[in-house]
Amino acid sequence: MGKPKVVLGVSGGIAAYKACELLRRLTESGHEVRVVPTAAALKFVGAPTWAALSGHPVSDEVWSDVYDVPHVRIGQSADLVVVAPATADLLAKAAHGLADDLLTNTLLTARCPVLFAPAMHTEMWEHPATQENVATLRRRGALVIEPAVGRLTGVDTGKGRLPDPGEIFEVCRRVVARGVDEPDLAGRHVVISAGGTREPLDPVRFLGNRSSGKQGYALARTAAARGARVTLLAANAELPDPAGVDVIRVGTAVQLREAVLKAAPEADALVMAAAVADFRPATYAGGKIKKQDGREPEPVALVRNPDILAEISAERARPGQVVVGFAAETDDVLTNGRAKLARKGCDLLVVNEVGERKTFGSEENEALVLGADGSETPVPYGPKEALADTVWDLVVARFG
Ligand code: CTP
Repeated sequence: MGKPKVVLGVSGGIAAYKACELLRRLTESGHEVRVVPTAAALKFVGAPTWAALSGHPVSDEVWSDVYDVPHVRIGQSADLVVVAPATADLLAKAAHGLADDLLTNTLLTARCPVLFAPAMHTEMWEHPATQENVATLRRRGALVIEPAVGRLTGVDTGKGRLPDPGEIFEVCRRVVARGVDEPDLAGRHVVISAGGTREPLDPVRFLGNRSSGKQGYALARTAAARGARVTLLAANAELPDPAGVDVIRVGTAVQLREAVLKAAPEADALVMAAAVADFRPATYAGGKIKKQDGREPEPVALVRNPDILAEISAERARPGQVVVGFAAETDDVLTNGRAKLARKGCDLLVVNEVGERKTFGSEENEALVLGADGSETPVPYGPKEALADTVWDLVVARFG
């Protein structure tokens, strides 16, 4: 099998320079990339840069190398077309099927997955014209990832930033790997908790756990790559925001509960991948707890935290909502897992066997996914994204 063929469309926004990094990541990871900029994009980054980084000739119009019929061939032979940045103008043209340059021709001839990473000012993104164009493209099966929130050109801040190129690359990689052209989570809103809660004792100390957040972030990334609207409730995870994902940061179990309950009414699926502390210190010392000469320390009294998973499973915020829990077990995985699934009342429970070097902080994972319907899906040792995709397959099957 040859290298996967990717068309990188670049339209005329200041974020065009970030597409150079995306291009580099794609080529270095074994993709063959043809860059197709618009004329406006070439005002920001010139053709020699794209040609040198991709190793292919670069043109924005249909009149060069006509014997090769590039306006048809490039799109036809692609395994993925990604447009980053996608301006409001480009989205409008794509939504209406205009074909006045090489990129818009390519979009009409592509039969592979098409991914748009929009970048523009907040007002342009929020304009009903743009929103309707985005909805049209999504309805037709294109993957349009939500812009990030942050600093825009000039002094403005808001929604409209191009997500980190490394994270756009991750979405591209997922889409090429899966090879599906119909995002099966399109139109669905999924809420995922990730990381580990920290329960403060005093201003400088907390009770925490070793969850890195990687499994929850992998769930968010794969859901976004499958077309979902994703809300990620991140508890103390120090990982980059996945592209197209709305990240809300929380600290404690109580804060996570509030965030989950707030997001739940709009969620088609809730996945509790966070390691939630079962207990918190009964009191919080407003000042740092000091050691006292000659005296033993006071014991730390703990109280129970609310069980968020049990609560959202017992009272579904929406009919048909799918709830997924995670369980970390050190032994007797199947028996403990089945008992926990029944106790929590969720639809699926992902059971991990954990130990000193297993799961926490690692890139790989092995699990058994138990269904309330009695099903058992073993997931062999592999990347956390593979487990995430299995979870979404099982969730999609339960949407009916
Ligand atoms: N969880 C939760 N709220 C809590 C504790 C856990 O929502 N206060 C969720 C976790 O996000 C995870 C699942 O419950 O999805 C399993 O958590 P775990 O701590 O393993 O289960 P416990 O019920 O605490 O069982 P045990 O302590 O006996 O292992």
